[in-house]
Parts: sequence; structure tokens; C-alpha cells
Amino acid sequence: MNYASANSDLAALRTPCLGTSLAVAKRLAKATNNTATLNRAITDFKDETGESVCVNLDGPVARVLIIGGADSCSPSQYRKIAGLVAQKLSALNITQAAVHLLGTKIKGHNVAWKAQALMQAISHASYRFNAYKSKPKQPVSLKRVRLLANAGDQKALRAAIKLGAALDEGLTLAKDLGNEPPNVCTPTYLLAQARKMARDKAVTLTALDEKKMLSLGMGAFMSVSQGSDQPGKMIILRYNGGKKDEAPIALVGKGITFDTGGISLKPPPTMDEMKFDMCGAAAVLGVTKAAIDARLPINLVTVVAAAENMPSARASRPGDIVTSASGQTIEILNTDAEGRLVLCDALTHVQNYKPRAIIDVATLTGACIMALGSHASGLFANDDDLADAITEAGERSGDRSWRLPLWDEYQSGLNTNFADMANVGGRGAGSVTAACFLSRFVKGCKWAHMDIAGSSFHNGAAKGSSGRPVAQLFNYLVAESGL
Ligand code: BES
Ligand code: MN
Ligand code: ZN
Repeated sequence: MNYASANSDLAALRTPCLGTSLAVAKRLAKATNNTATLNRAITDFKDETGESVCVNLDGPVARVLIIGGADSCSPSQYRKIAGLVAQKLSALNITQAAVHLLGTKIKGHNVAWKAQALMQAISHASYRFNAYKSKPKQPVSLKRVRLLANAGDQKALRAAIKLGAALDEGLTLAKDLGNEPPNVCTPTYLLAQARKMARDKAVTLTALDEKKMLSLGMGAFMSVSQGSDQPGKMIILRYNGGKKDEAPIALVGKGITFDTGGISLKPPPTMDEMKFDMCGAAAVLGVTKAAIDARLPINLVTVVAAAENMPSARASRPGDIVTSASGQTIEILNTDAEGRLVLCDALTHVQNYKPRAIIDVATLTGACIMALGSHASGLFANDDDLADAITEAGERSGDRSWRLPLWDEYQSGLNTNFADMANVGGRGAGSVTAACFLSRFVKGCKWAHMDIAGSSFHNGAAKGSSGRPVAQLFNYLVAESGL
């Protein structure tokens, strides 16, 4: 989507459709001699959130889409308003539109926040994945949206648009990668995507192949990858937008391009959804793309642990013991707990870059869906400031997480008689024991883990990647950049 700023001079406005409040629509009608037409159309209209009506006008504004409750509202009501205007505009057969909704009064939220909410909503509503449809489903013709604000807000609006456009790119990339079928989106495909991002002169790419990973002692990663004919990849992207000597922020993504469970095979129903088991990788690549596009003044190191989890004669067995790159040994009791196995070696590796914080993102546990459903990503951290910063970024972006404990008491669930640890805990708190497992591979560094098993994709009729938590992490990076 192409976003632009414009001033809110109604007399000069020319557009196929203006999305706005009832009050502005009345002013517009008056300025363009459409008052009688408007009054006829709004006799039954309720000016409340969730309500909307589209009215055809004579003159340079061909339609006005009136969104209810847009005078003043709460932040969550504003998100509903943004979602509604985005959905209605995307459904019209027009290539351009204007939105005049930045005047809404919301306690504690400025123009930049409102613009971000609108752009995020438009980004979501106008997204389609039609790559494999002979006849595209509900195609979207909208290409360009102008956001209107008064003169005093133009500077803030332009800055917000730069960020919003970058975030749109990142969200689209993350969703596309998630939605690609698993026969296309392999570890090699993810590497090719990273290569495209590395064409930027501020970005460098390193890819570790299986031979290299074996030489680095990544026995945990390899225990997953060895069962597949698709070669596993550890992909490392560095974006240098900050000061040369400034420690980077590290993003690590689980990139299981298909999770059959391995020898601990998953049951058939909904197994297709395990193509989304690389949504952590998609999210860290998406947020990295957004950071690059926005030229955030920050250094990043993004690591994708990409492998396919397959049953085969070469696959690891329950009971196998492997040695991770950290030197710690792991007894694999369940080959379906593979995410932590690829991530632990990625976490060990990324610490070579001396990051100031590490955030890993993973569709790690079904238990996280039991705990939080789809509305919140699970958040774990060994540092309260880091957890708070990520939580706040979630609130700001409407892409929220909820913190779960990482107490020592849970660690003993991973005890085994045969190795330093097992790869699964007992029956309870599966998300926590998974996070506990990962915590053992982070030494002396601030670290957070996000379990996005429930938040990163929709199932049922709306099946598809959600792009989460790209918006949350982008907001975190923007705040870290001091912007
Ligand atoms: N990729 C799954 C987790 C998952 C489940 C993500 C459903 C999204 C939707 C992960 O690799 C897995 O299989 N986890 C196991 C862990 C268990 C064996 C300890 C699980 O959650 O059942
Ligand atoms: Mn699994
Ligand atoms: Zn998995």
C-alpha cells in the first residue's frame, strides 16, 4: 500500500472516496452542496462505533464513507474504527482513497498513534494471498491512501507514514512467507528471501549450511534437520543502521518449514497448519525488513533457524541423546519438541555477536494456545525491563503479549537420568518448561522468548498467517531507536 499525507482542506479535496466522521461528512456536504443528499442517506444512521454508511455525492469527492463514533473514543474503539474504514475501503472498486480520521480525540494518544492504527488496519484489510488461485478471491484494487490532518500535525504525520509504510512491507513479507505452501517455502527458500534483503548496502548475510553447523557442534539443530531431504540452514542477517560500535539487538526465529512431529508423528487433522511452524522466522525477517525500509538508526542481527521436521530412516528417535553447540547434552524424549532443539543452537550462536538483548520468536507450544488462545502472544524474559519494553510495544501496536513465569521451580521438569536435560517437561505448563529449556542456552545476556503458536496464524475459514508479532517488535525497535 502506498500512504501519503495531505492537509485537511475539504474544499480542495478530490477523491473517489473519503472515509471520515459524521461531523466532517456534514461539513464536506455543505461545502459541496450535497447537504440534502447526505441528510436523506443518514436518517437511520447511528453515530456509534461499529456503524458505517457510504453515501454517493456530486462533485470532486465521489463518495463519503461515514464511520460512526469517530468524534472521541477509547483506543480500542479507535482500532475498531480503523478496522472498519480499512475493510470498507478495501472492498470498494477504487484504486485511491482518502481518510480524514486523525481529528478523533483519544486520551493519551497523538496523531502518530492514530495514523499507525489506521495504516496497520489498512495493511491487514488489503492483504491477499492469491498466488495459487486461478481466479483471485476478493481482489483488492486499492493502492494509495492519503491520510488527512491539519497543518500543525503534518510533520508528525509524515514521520508516522514513513514508519507505517515500512511496517506494511514487513507485515506483508511475514504473511506471504507464512502462507506459502511447505513444498515451496523450504529452508532454501527462506535463505533466498534473506538474500534479497541483503541486496541493501546496510545489510550483510551469512548462511551456515549443514556441514558448517556440524563443524560448529550444532548437534541439537542437526538432530531435527537430519530426518529431512531438505537441507537445513542457519541464516544470519546483519543490518547496520546504528553506530558502528553499538551492540546489536538480536532477533531469532524458529523456521520449521514443516513440522510433522518426526518419529513422534502428529495426528493428521490440521497437520497442514504446521506449514505455519516457520512463522517465528517469518516474523523476524518481516520486522528486519521493516527496520531496513524505515532506516531505523539501530544495529540488528537476525538469525533464522530453518529446518524441516520429518520422519525418515535418518530421523532422530525418542531416546536419542545429542550434544548442542553449547556443549550441554539433550535427551530427545519427543521428536515433536523440535523447535527448542533448533533454537538452542541458534541462541548459542547469536551470542557470538555480543547482542545487548536477544528476542526469540517461535510457534513453540500447543500449550501456549491452551493458556492464552490467539489474542496474546506468550512472553517470557530473564529481564524485567526488556519484558516491560516488549509489553509496552504490544499495547501501543495493538499486537499484544502476556508475560508468563520463568521461575526456577519449573526447571526440574526437564530432569532426566541420562543427559544434562530432556527436551520435554512433564504434563503441566508446557510453554513454561519449553521457555525454561531455552533459558539454559542464554548466558549473561538479556533475553526474551515469545511463543506465537496461538497468535501467528488463524485457523478455520480465515486460515492464514496473521503477521504477528511484526507490529509489536517493530514498535519495540522504533522505541529502542529513540524515535
Ligand atoms: N510446532 C509445534 C507447536 C504448535 C502447535 C504450534 C500447534 C502451533 C500450533 C511444536 O513443535 C510442538 O509440536 N510442540 C509440542 C511440544 C510437546 C511435544 C512437548 C506440543 O505443543 O504438543
Ligand atoms: Mn513439533
Ligand atoms: Zn514445531
